[in-house]
Amino acid sequence: MAEMRAFLVTVQQINEGVLQDDMKKVADAARKVGRAAQEAVPVSLMGKLPLDFKKLGFDTHTRFDALALDAEQFGDKEQALGALTELMQNCISCHAGYRIDLVME
Ligand code: HEC
Repeated sequence: MAEMRAFLVTVQQINEGVLQDDMKKVADAARKVGRAAQEAVPVSLMGKLPLDFKKLGFDTHTRFDALALDAEQFGDKEQALGALTELMQNCISCHAGYRIDLVME
C-alpha cells in the first residue's frame, strides 16, 4: 500500500512538473517509483502474488523509468503526459482485477 501511495504522489508530481514546465521534477518523480523502488518488496510477499499481477506491477515500474529517461533526454511535456496516460491503464486494469483481502488465520 505504501507503494500505491507513492504511485499516487508521483502521478501528481508529474502533472505538476508538466504544468510548471519543470521536466527535472517530472523525471525525479517518475524515477522514485521505477524498478529500483520495486526491489523493496519482501520475498515473502513476492511469492504470494499471482504472475499476471507481478507482470503488471513490473511493467508499471518499467514505464515510469522510461518516462523519467525520456523526460530528461527530450524534455517533451506532451510525450510525458502521453506516457503517463498510457501507463495509468495499468493502474486501472490492475485495480479492476485484484484486491487485497485480510485473511484471519
Ligand atoms: C499490479 C497491480 C497494481 C497496479 C499496477 C497498481 N495498483 Fe494500486 N493497488 C493495487 C491493489 C491490489 C490495491 C489494493 C486494493 C484493494 O484491496 O481494494 C491498490 C490500491 C491502491 C491505492 C490505495 C492505497 C491505500 O492506501 O489504500 C492507491 C492510491 C493506488 N492503488 C494507486 C495506484 C496508481 C496511481 C497506480 C498506477 C500508477 C497503481 N495503483 C497501480 C494494485 C495495483
